[in-house]
Amino acid sequence: ATYGACLEAMCDAGATRSTMVVALGGGVVGDLAGFAAATYMRGCRCVQIPTSLLACIDSSVGGKTAVDLPAGKNLVGAFFQPSGVLVDTATIDTLPAHFFTDGCAEAIKYGIIADARLFDVLATPLVQGDARLGDVIKRCVEIKRDMVNADEYEHGVRKLLNYGHTIGHGIEKESHFAITHGFGVASGMAMTAHACARLGLCSADDASRIAQVIRAYGLPTSCDFGRDVLYRAALSDKKRSGQNISLALVHAIGDARVTEMPLDDFGRFLDFACMTH
Ligand code: GLY
Repeated sequence: ATYGACLEAMCDAGATRSTMVVALGGGVVGDLAGFAAATYMRGCRCVQIPTSLLACIDSSVGGKTAVDLPAGKNLVGAFFQPSGVLVDTATIDTLPAHFFTDGCAEAIKYGIIADARLFDVLATPLVQGDARLGDVIKRCVEIKRDMVNADEYEHGVRKLLNYGHTIGHGIEKESHFAITHGFGVASGMAMTAHACARLGLCSADDASRIAQVIRAYGLPTSCDFGRDVLYRAALSDKKRSGQNISLALVHAIGDARVTEMPLDDFGRFLDFACMTH
């Protein structure tokens, strides 16, 4: 309904194809404004000015735009690259603590999937006003930029950015979004690492280190939802195609790889993921 109201407002304001939409806000605002820009008169320009840490390092970059359906998050959308992204790190200092921590989960994700050195930097928890914040944001955006440049439409390497998200989205959805994205993804990342260790893909040490760093931020490493609930939620997620589901799995900190997993194996994977500690 908000998406429709935005389009009506653009019409009322006399917006044309040369209008530029400015998305000033967090991930939901960026996704919504981006999708409105992508579809208004078949597309006008959009600049993203993210104000949450999560939006700075993830959702504002890479051109994913979307709105939710009752059936699930971000189920309608378009790949539509912004004309620019402007990050002002000073806004991060003004965030409520919960949303700062929420964004830190995505920063940890970049360390796990692509950069062991970044993971080590993040092992000493970031705090608001932290002198390292600018460099951390820059490094996260560089990692995402390179993956999106290599695979804009998410057929391969971009799927690594979904590490922990299949479980994380299920947790968000089943909590009716009372659990915010980063907190859901934090559980998903730790549970995925735990399952990877059980499957012999990564060492038990790496999995416990991942859980330890996530916990150091006050983020969760498990969830209250059972395996069957998470399985059902994953079936309606975008990562499923036919009888397979795409999963980013960790082989070592800084080295994640994408696997197309048959749904039966995914069920077993979730059994391991839910066997927490
Ligand atoms: N947030 C994951 C992606 O943009 O691909």
